[in-house]
Amino acid sequence: MTTAAFTPRVFSGIQPSGGLTLGNYLGALKRFVEMQDAGTHETIYCLVDLHAITVWQDPAKLAHNTRELAAAFIACGIDPERSILFNQSQVPEHAQLGWIFNCVARMGWMGRMTQWKDKAGKNAENASLGLFGYPALMAADILVYHATHVPVGEDQKQHLELTRDIAAKFNHDYGTDFFPLTEPVIEGVATRVMSLRDGSKKMSKSDPSDMSRINMTDNADAIAQKIRKARTDPEPLPDNEAALEGRPEARNLVNIYAALSEQELPTVLAEVGGKPFSEFKPMLADLAVAKLSPISGEMARLMKDTAEIDRILSRGAERARGVAAPIIDRTYEIVGLVR
Ligand code: TYM
Repeated sequence: MTTAAFTPRVFSGIQPSGGLTLGNYLGALKRFVEMQDAGTHETIYCLVDLHAITVWQDPAKLAHNTRELAAAFIACGIDPERSILFNQSQVPEHAQLGWIFNCVARMGWMGRMTQWKDKAGKNAENASLGLFGYPALMAADILVYHATHVPVGEDQKQHLELTRDIAAKFNHDYGTDFFPLTEPVIEGVATRVMSLRDGSKKMSKSDPSDMSRINMTDNADAIAQKIRKARTDPEPLPDNEAALEGRPEARNLVNIYAALSEQELPTVLAEVGGKPFSEFKPMLADLAVAKLSPISGEMARLMKDTAEIDRILSRGAERARGVAAPIIDRTYEIVGLVR
């Protein structure tokens, strides 16, 4: 069965492991809001706290980061009435389906995941079992809602291919077409926002250098300083895309400008082509501050009433369970688990 047979439904998640970056915003959050506002799909967004604890999290910080991430979603434009917004651990159906998928997925599949290899590194013996099984829980997040579309950044592509493999193997093993083969939605100019210090590395909250990234909580001065100091080459900006070849830092900054100003790349290049970085960087800094400051201001305001955030998350979890529980019931039946 193709996804066409299923209700059009978007699911995506972000880990509340602290330090939301401009990469998370442009590659994920901003697009979540666009998909909500398009009104073509049901939209379900999740703070994946069970994924966060696959590596050590300080308990007090985890709770704080979860609420702060909820505030970020709302500040960016997620409306908890129109979308379902909740944290993963409040919906036990994720872990229930996650276990079943642990029994469907193969060790070899997991071992080939580049994020596993990057995160576990040379010390795989010492990594948690949860980190190894991470992609099976991610597949469960998506499939426990029969989600048809998953907006993510480029770095999640392999995990989404694995999600399709898990759905296909389950369907095959149990002779059913119960789970959809979900479509990744990796679109736009900002699916891979790069480090400000090294155009060949992804912008990441775990990079040791804070100058490599813009954090959603950075103030205007910090944003302007990071852009001013961003690595570039000595040439002025080109006026066409082909000439960005071999200039990863220039490409990154222009992509960020295009994504923030919601323009196509050729339009931006027509505007900025020929300008030196000394002229372009202040334009980018002004734009970034204009777009990001209202969000961080709103996050700070929302964080003053964490009881309200908690109410929103538990209401979201209740609604999420309304979708997930019947899917778990039917999955148990298919597998032969007596209820
Ligand atoms: P996480 O928390 O690392 O990142 C959240 C989202 O942000 C995107 N992203 C980026 N996009 C563009 N440029 C960047 N530099 C950049 N850095 C991060 C990520 O691609 C992601 O979309 N495994 C997921 C969380 C997850 C999930 C899911 C996602 C758990 N279950 C189910 C979708 C569906 C993760 O660790 O994302």
